[in-house]
Amino acid sequence: MYRFDIINALIKRYSYQRYLEIGVEGGEAFSNVQCALKHGVDPFSVNATFRIPSDDFFDMINEDVEYDIIFVDGLHVEDQAQRDIENSLLHLSEGGVIVVHDCNPPTEWHQRSYEEFLQHYSPWNGTTWRGFVNLRASRPDIEMCVIDTDWGCGIVTQNGEGQDVIDLPDNYTYTDFQAHRKEWLNLISVDEFLQTLA
Ligand SMILES: C[S@@+](CC[C@H](N)C(=O)[O-])C[C@H]1O[C@@H](n2cnc3c(N)ncnc32)[C@H](O)[C@@H]1O
Repeated sequence: MYRFDIINALIKRYSYQRYLEIGVEGGEAFSNVQCALKHGVDPFSVNATFRIPSDDFFDMINEDVEYDIIFVDGLHVEDQAQRDIENSLLHLSEGGVIVVHDCNPPTEWHQRSYEEFLQHYSPWNGTTWRGFVNLRASRPDIEMCVIDTDWGCGIVTQNGEGQDVIDLPDNYTYTDFQAHRKEWLNLISVDEFLQTLA
């Protein structure tokens, strides 16, 4: 199951009408998503509706602008990924969902720095996982899990009873993450995700 299959399944199940994608690139996900309204934000993509960085986009839009489903897949660096999720929460409709790509890097190399990524343009999940687990540790008011497919697709909602936050050690490393991957991400299988839609 690819990221856009997950997004389309959620749109269909909950009759979502308004989709926002942060980080559009060649438009692979954007063109595959089927939704009445689609907005894309990317400073470098000709496929974007708004060719500006995500921070500028969130600064620009009115407080009352809402989307039903937001796909966070912009710059895969801890602070930016975390801020994109936090800003998305401020513009999520009641009953809406945020999907976050690249939450589950399979090796330490896949989460190398942005500078190293610029040297090697091959699969790069970056440190999105760090932004994600920071919120797993600090936001009891939201619900978070990661579907174990397509580099890890995070699901973030604020509809339920919240989550049990995790304990993160100071200065945690990728080795710590490897030891606690399932718990820190609240990792679920595709089948478990599909059961939530039934
Ligand atoms: C992994 S690609 C997106 C892939 C696309 N979502 C898909 O699934 O087909 C990441 C994109 O994020 C964009 N990006 C980088 N910094 C950004 C920022 N500050 N705000 C929004 N997009 C950003 C890059 O230009 C790149 O096109």
